[in-house]
Amino acid sequence: MKTIVSLFVFLSAVFASELPEEFDKLLYEKGEKVFEKKCMECHEKYMDIPLLMKNFIEENNKLLNLKAPTGNEISFRLKQQIGSRDDMEFHLHQTNDFLKDYLYNPDLSKTICLEGVIRHFKVMPSMKGKITEEEIEEVNHFLYFLEGFNGVNNYFHKEELELK
Ligand code: HEC
Repeated sequence: MKTIVSLFVFLSAVFASELPEEFDKLLYEKGEKVFEKKCMECHEKYMDIPLLMKNFIEENNKLLNLKAPTGNEISFRLKQQIGSRDDMEFHLHQTNDFLKDYLYNPDLSKTICLEGVIRHFKVMPSMKGKITEEEIEEVNHFLYFLEGFNGVNNYFHKEELELK
């Protein structure tokens, strides 16, 4: 019995260690709801990166006819282009600051997206008065962990598949 218990403790430690301690499941789920309610009118949540690249680079967005970059593309670029990943807790604040600024004052000169992706779109309408700072924090948590964290969500995608 003792061995079974210690094996169980060991295994849960192994599985738990895949999740960064900054990940907050409740906040993630709240953020996902905000995304579904306030962003999905234009942004798809997730699509495979190779398919997206084919759509934007080869097919001029005629394959998928997207209205905006997808959630997982934004997730990837947000973590890559904003601040530094050295300290995840601080990084989450940095991506949140970017999101808050972009959602209230969108401007294509601030874009984090690839030129080959963003050229298909006009600037996003401001969400001033349509989303609170608290909801932005929630959606930031969701977007941060949407792409590239194994075990956090259903959409795990290997980060080695670098977007160039
Ligand atoms: C009415 C359509 C619409 C809605 C609603 C909308 N967006 Fe967007 N969004 C766009 C378009 C179009 C773009 C691409 C142009 C741009 O970047 O401004 C975009 C771009 C973005 C970008 C990338 C900015 C950049 O260029 O680097 C982020 C981040 C973003 N949206 C977040 C959100 C979030 C979060 C929500 C919901 C709270 C949301 N958007 C709601 C249309 C929308």
